[in-house]
Amino acid sequence: MRIRPVSAVAGALLVLSTLVLAVPQAQAAPGGPEAAPGRAAAHAGVPLAIGHRGVPVQAPENTLASIDRAADLGITWVENDVQRTKDGALIVMHDTTLERTTDVKRRFPRRAPWKIADFTLAEIQKLDAGSWYDRRFAGERVPTLRRYLQRVDHNRQKLLLEVKAPELYPGIERQLASELQRAGWLNARHVRSALVVQSFSAPSLKAFHRVRPDVKTGFLGAPKPSELRSYAAFADQINPPHRSVTSAWVRAVHALRGPHGRHLEVSAWTVDNGDRAVELARMGVDGIISNAPHEIEDALDEDLDEQDEEEDDGLSFLSFLGL
Ligand code: G3P
Ligand code: CA
Repeated sequence: MRIRPVSAVAGALLVLSTLVLAVPQAQAAPGGPEAAPGRAAAHAGVPLAIGHRGVPVQAPENTLASIDRAADLGITWVENDVQRTKDGALIVMHDTTLERTTDVKRRFPRRAPWKIADFTLAEIQKLDAGSWYDRRFAGERVPTLRRYLQRVDHNRQKLLLEVKAPELYPGIERQLASELQRAGWLNARHVRSALVVQSFSAPSLKAFHRVRPDVKTGFLGAPKPSELRSYAAFADQINPPHRSVTSAWVRAVHALRGPHGRHLEVSAWTVDNGDRAVELARMGVDGIISNAPHEIEDALDEDLDEQDEEEDDGLSFLSFLGL
């Protein structure tokens, strides 16, 4: 993947120009400059790898087991999806129906189409959210948001929280703010560096921003550069599908400042290929949301090592030339 210099002289010149011209890019996504955990903080400019629904290549998505697995792998940032039950509880699940990721069809065969919004929390808590994935995870439950937040804290992780399908759950933004407050997630530490609320819905994100303007937000999508300014009024991040990312688009996003006066950030999704992650890193994205975030970290680290080696080669050559 690394593009090596065509010759030692070219390498030396490249290094020379890098040393003279390069301006280090601050590591910022997704929680702001203070948010960068150990590994990323050590390598300014390297995007954060964010676990998409946890680490779903190793554990069932959006479960506590999945964020525990992320913690075991050293992944600090995890992403999840939040929705609401019939009796008003906030839970963590991606699909708007329970069918794919639980045993609901077996337990409640007459309740098709098994929408989350048609089931009470007590009913949902009876479901097995692990067996569909692997027998080893039998008995895993659909987490409430409250329980999930506790576990993220316990694991010393940070959260990219998606409000999923907010049009189905009127008022969820205000409810989410109350729930975050009750869970201790709106104190200075969490707001400064451990929480970003994102959505595909601009109206929902605006509504959340109105209720809690201090919390960082992310818009899921890839608006045209000409439209970006309107999003900067309520979103700190613009998080696009990775196939729509170009260097020019990333520059256009970074050029704007968000509601907290900082340059907008970009976290691209969903990237499970190391070479693609390196390409995106070179385009300047701040975060990479992945089902295999540990593999993305490895690819980015490897690329960084290769860059370091090339720099060392270049410096040796300059010293050989007496420069
Ligand atoms: O965080 C980005 C990603 O989660 C958006 O897509 O469908 O996986 O929620 P989806
Ligand atoms: Ca999501």
